[in-house]
Amino acid sequence: MDKVTIDDAVGSVRDTFKGDHSGHDYFHTLRVYEMATRIAGQEGADLTIVQLAALLHDVDDIKSSPETHADKGRASAFLRKHDVSEAMIKTICDIIDEVSFKGTDTVAPKTIEGMCVQDADRLDAIGAIGIARAFAYGGSHGRTIHDPEIGPTEDMDGDEYKDHVSTTVNHFYEKLFHLKDLMNTAEAKKIAERRERYMKDFISEFLDEWAGIR
Ligand code: ADP
Ligand code: NI
Repeated sequence: MDKVTIDDAVGSVRDTFKGDHSGHDYFHTLRVYEMATRIAGQEGADLTIVQLAALLHDVDDIKSSPETHADKGRASAFLRKHDVSEAMIKTICDIIDEVSFKGTDTVAPKTIEGMCVQDADRLDAIGAIGIARAFAYGGSHGRTIHDPEIGPTEDMDGDEYKDHVSTTVNHFYEKLFHLKDLMNTAEAKKIAERRERYMKDFISEFLDEWAGIR
């Protein structure tokens, strides 16, 4: 396994996500790859596993692929094509399965490599970019920005979270404001502090404007 495989994975995700405006675009994957690499350096994690899992983490997402499990889909096909060992394919596919936020059914990864990828994916959902992605997702799914009559729903399990339709402002309370405390690594916790502060300031300003205070 080498630079060719990584470069090829970058090319492959560029093709997969071409034209996606729902928050799963190519640049999201690239940011997760770069952030996961940075965290892995701090944690002494296996870089190849982290980088391949980061690059492939969204290619089998149910919203863009008919396969619901990474081990049956595009990620494993890509790795087999590059003669990655079955043991490493399993490790990478397990990381991809663990990465997503699923309400109260969310799992903490078993490996340090999984923790790096999950933290990097979550960091991209918060802060300035996280705010932009949330409203882009809301727009592309026809969601209302905010409705004072509709409050957030807390403590949803995986199925409830998946089927839940709400406003984009509620998404901050239902997911984004929980992510800082769910970070696995010290480096990610540090970065999350600033991003969460920024996001909370944004929502506070938003609600003040809505209420006519500003
Ligand atoms: P990922 O695992 O890559 O974070 P998700 O599908 O959970 O993928 O989310 C993709 C992006 O869309 C994230 O930035 C997330 O916060 C945003 N998003 C997901 N669900 C909603 C929602 N119901 N309302 C607003 N934004 C959402
Ligand atoms: Ni992602």
